[in-house]
Amino acid sequence: MYRYIGNKTKLLPYIIEKVEGIVPRGATICDLMAGTGVVSYALSEKGYKMISSDIMTYTKCHLVSNLLIDEPPRFSNAGFEGYESIINYLNNLEPFEGYFYKEFSPDGKPENGCEPRKYFSSENAKKIDAIRNQINNWIFNNQIDEKEEMLLKHTLIMAVNDVANISGTYGYFLAELKNNAREPIMLEPITFNQVQPQNNRVIQGFAEEIAADIKADLCYIDPPYMKRQYAANYHILETIARGDFPEAIGKSGLRDWWDQHSKLCTKTKGLDSLKRIIENMQCDNFVISYSEDGLFSLEQLSELFNNYGTVNVQYIDYSRFRSNNSKLSKKLKEYIIYLRRY
Ligand SMILES: C[S@@+](CC[C@H](N)C(=O)[O-])C[C@H]1O[C@@H](n2cnc3c(N)ncnc32)[C@H](O)[C@@H]1O
Repeated sequence: MYRYIGNKTKLLPYIIEKVEGIVPRGATICDLMAGTGVVSYALSEKGYKMISSDIMTYTKCHLVSNLLIDEPPRFSNAGFEGYESIINYLNNLEPFEGYFYKEFSPDGKPENGCEPRKYFSSENAKKIDAIRNQINNWIFNNQIDEKEEMLLKHTLIMAVNDVANISGTYGYFLAELKNNAREPIMLEPITFNQVQPQNNRVIQGFAEEIAADIKADLCYIDPPYMKRQYAANYHILETIARGDFPEAIGKSGLRDWWDQHSKLCTKTKGLDSLKRIIENMQCDNFVISYSEDGLFSLEQLSELFNNYGTVNVQYIDYSRFRSNNSKLSKKLKEYIIYLRRY
């Protein structure tokens, strides 16, 4: 997938092994904070039935595209003969000076009077405007269904990540356009996973709120470890996924993200959120990923989980996610905690 805070690509073998040791293939697994979805895709390909959720709209684009679609849609209502032909059409649209150009490019003039922001080259921002506009038109005219919309937005997000002028996240842009940002943006058709769409479900929502409605044999929880809010750090992807034109606030141009503020990123409310999730879910097995440098210590987590059942911890040496200019040390311990509820 792409660089995403807390992405579990490198830890997949450990997580899969852990899950396979607890429930057999064919069981229902909930990936409650699925992010890029890599854990869900790997488990789905192993034959597990997935319920995958997250609060962010862009993650829904990833999850729907990779869990609910196993072959390219035809896009016939929009007048195309398949996924590749619609991608080709989008790649060749006439660029125009719209919202992304104005708010996020060096030649733009942000509405709030701030200095131009350099998230994208001006040419790429104009292309993104043209593509967003076209997708919005197809939605407005009912020419694409929800899965097709999610797939086009997922494809656009993946291309946007390749040309973004950022250091790891969209929290801020770099002062000078780096080489990848100078390349022209190019949408590439994705390769579909070997999944059984009828076995999978995708939900968008706060884990604390949806937990009570979820029944699963095992719940994998990969919460945020730090105070960094995903909604703030990936605001541009959220705007692409929503297809809207929010006020771009301050120097960095963040959208108002308070509706997606996560309590799990706070020291005061994070543990209470985990407690609510474990108490409410219709599930007996919980596998939780956490990190040595997270907001909560292993002791705090164990103390909480011990109230509900038996707890077992696996320790893994891991190289951390670092933004390019981070001075933090590279090695740290990851935990895979297994809670078997009484
Ligand atoms: C560590 S990341 C998950 C990474 C994912 N396992 C992967 O490999 O890409 C944590 C995810 O939790 C989501 N999140 C944060 N608070 C949440 C909440 N209260 N309910 C649901 N999802 C939440 C974030 O949007 C983020 O995508």
